[in-house]
Amino acid sequence: MGYFDSIQGRPIIRDHKALSFTYVPKELPHRDEQMKRMFSIFKSVAESGVSQNVMLHGRVGTGKTALAKRFSMEFKEWAASKNAAVEFEVVNCRRRTSNASVVLALTNHFDKHFPDRGFSVPEMLDVIKKYLIRDHIHYLVILDEADVLLRKAGSDLIYILTRFEEEELRDQGSVNLILVAQENVMDLMDEASRSTFKPSNVVTFERYTEKALYDITEQRVDLAFHPRTVDHEVMEQMAAIASETGDARRAIDLLEKSGQLAEEEGVEYVNVEHVRKANAIAYSTLDTSKLDELDRAKTVVLLSICRALRKASVVTTGEVQKVYKVVCEEHDEKPRGTTQFWKYIQDLSARGIINTKRVKQGAEGLTTHITLTEASAEDLEAELARRLGR
Ligand SMILES: Nc1ncnc2c1ncn2[C@@H]1O[C@H](COP(=O)(O)OP(=O)(O)O)[C@@H](O)[C@H]1O
Ligand SMILES: [Mg+2]
Repeated sequence: MGYFDSIQGRPIIRDHKALSFTYVPKELPHRDEQMKRMFSIFKSVAESGVSQNVMLHGRVGTGKTALAKRFSMEFKEWAASKNAAVEFEVVNCRRRTSNASVVLALTNHFDKHFPDRGFSVPEMLDVIKKYLIRDHIHYLVILDEADVLLRKAGSDLIYILTRFEEEELRDQGSVNLILVAQENVMDLMDEASRSTFKPSNVVTFERYTEKALYDITEQRVDLAFHPRTVDHEVMEQMAAIASETGDARRAIDLLEKSGQLAEEEGVEYVNVEHVRKANAIAYSTLDTSKLDELDRAKTVVLLSICRALRKASVVTTGEVQKVYKVVCEEHDEKPRGTTQFWKYIQDLSARGIINTKRVKQGAEGLTTHITLTEASAEDLEAELARRLGR
């Protein structure tokens, strides 16, 4: 057995490819509405050859790129069943920031070996035109991160592409633009280009809710993880953290990192502490100088919270209070009464070290749920114990 075989635990992640950002799942939960809008806009392209231009916008991680790709794949298939030829190409304008390099990518779609030097934009457009006419192709041109191109190169290319068929193709194919950006790129276009976009052809992508992020996470678990390695509570924790930004990328990133941490530890499944650690590695905003400001009494309370949270994603004040009594004994601190204890919790929350949420609990009324997202409970506990030991 080799070195890596001996340190490798039981695998938890089954398929890393399904966690990569370029992977596009067959279904996109919570994006049915956008998918339907796209189809109703583009249907006429396949049915009667009328070209369409559309704009997709929304914050990072709201599924714009994934949806543009999934839609195009599905649409191509559907169009084929109607005997219409659809081709599509996704161009990332953050990587291709000049008109020439965008058009080269669009040309390479039809001719992989087309030389990347020596041809002007009009010459390349002519090449594309020949292919479109020859096979009566409806070409979906997806300009992802289109704002970058618009800022650097202006809207000339967009203008040319939206007028392409009118002047050049004459019903023997079409060019259809799908502009994808975080903002409404209409504002970055000149009047002439803007006029070719119908104001109604705008599809917006809202930030995902916690529930949506849970469903997206669950789908990835099924696609990428071994069975029963990630439970309900762990997925809830990921969704809760990612819901701060409503970003699916963050949820998937947390999922992958948590899975790797669990594998490195050689344990059988992912737990909530892996999620916190993964989050702390990638996104921690907990500044340890915040801990310097805590007196001994508050440090003991925080340490108790960390210990109570080692195995759980969320705890109640009552649960923490039980642990608190033990921790006080360990550190020779006098346990404070409930009122004072409660004030300490409020203070830690106000400092942004922990999160608290009032929730209904049975007939008894309200309780407070405490969570920790900025740091690993275990790491923070160790740090606090070190401080108390001084
Ligand atoms: N509704 C969804 N269902 C499943 N995965 C999604 C969904 N929305 C986004 N994702 C995934 O989240 C990540 C970020 O999505 P992406 O389309 O790149 O966002 P954007 O382009 O809006 O920044 C990708 O890995 C993508 O596959
Ligand atoms: Mg994107």
